[in-house]
Amino acid sequence: MRRLDVPAVNRALLREHVHWTLRYQEVCDSTQDLARSALQTGVGAGTLFVTDWQRKGRGRYGRPWSAPQGHALLFSTILFPPEDLIGMVPLLAGVAVSGAIEGLTAVQCDLKWPNDVLAGARKVAGILAERPPGPAVVLGVGINVNVASSDLPDTDATSLLVMTGRQVSREELLASTLNAVDSWYGRALREGPQTIIRAWRLRTSMLGRTVAVVRDGATRLGIAEDIDDNGRLMIQYEDGRREALIAGEISRIRSTK
Ligand code: BTN
Repeated sequence: MRRLDVPAVNRALLREHVHWTLRYQEVCDSTQDLARSALQTGVGAGTLFVTDWQRKGRGRYGRPWSAPQGHALLFSTILFPPEDLIGMVPLLAGVAVSGAIEGLTAVQCDLKWPNDVLAGARKVAGILAERPPGPAVVLGVGINVNVASSDLPDTDATSLLVMTGRQVSREELLASTLNAVDSWYGRALREGPQTIIRAWRLRTSMLGRTVAVVRDGATRLGIAEDIDDNGRLMIQYEDGRREALIAGEISRIRSTK
C-alpha cells in the first residue's frame, strides 16, 4: 500500500478560486467527520481532509462507503457557497469528477441524479454534500480508483482499474478533480447556477428516460424531464402529474432498462 503523495498533489493545484489546504491522515473514521469537526474550530473554505482508508466511511442515508486501504480517493472539503449555489454543489462536484476521470483515463462517465458518477452503467464515484448548521457545505467524494473487482462492495459498483485495466495515479486524479471543482466554482460564481445545470445536462443520459422513483418503500415510474434552477429533478409520472424531486426526500432512482 502506498501512502498518498500530498506534496505531489499540492504542486499540481491551480488554486484560482478555491484556496485548497490539504490535511492528510493515513487512516480515519470518515473524512466527513474530520471536516465537520474542523468547521467548529473556524477553518476556511477549501480546507480538505484526505485519507487512504476510512473505518466508517458513509454515503447518503448513512449507507456504508468502503474501499480497501490506499486504492481509492476519499476526501471531504469545506465550501461556503453563496445561497443560490448551495443546491448546485453536488451537481458541480459530479461535473468536476466526471470531467477529471474522462480527462485522465478516457473512461466515459454518465451522471445519475442526484450525485452518482457512473462508468459502464456502474457506480465509480459517490458524492455526499452535507449541511451542518451554518453556511458551510461539507462536500465528500469517494472514487473507486485502483480497486480490484473482487474488492468492490457490490455488483453495481466499478472502478477505474476495472474499466481501464491499469493503475491510475490517485495524486493526478485528486489534483485534476480539485482543479475542475475550482474552475466550475469560479464559473458558477461569475455566471450563476445555470452554467452548472447546462454542464450537468450534457453529462447525463437519464433525461428523457423512464426512471423508477423509490420513496418510503413505494416505487413510481416517471420520465426524468429536466433539472430545475435549484438542482431538483423534474419528473412526469405516468398519470401525467409532475413533481420536482429533492435529493434528500427520495431513497433511490433506478433506471428501468
Ligand atoms: C454516496 O454515493 O452515497 C456518497 C458516497 C460518499 C463517500 C465519500 S468518501 C469520502 C467522504 N467520507 C465519507 O465518509 N463519505 C464521503
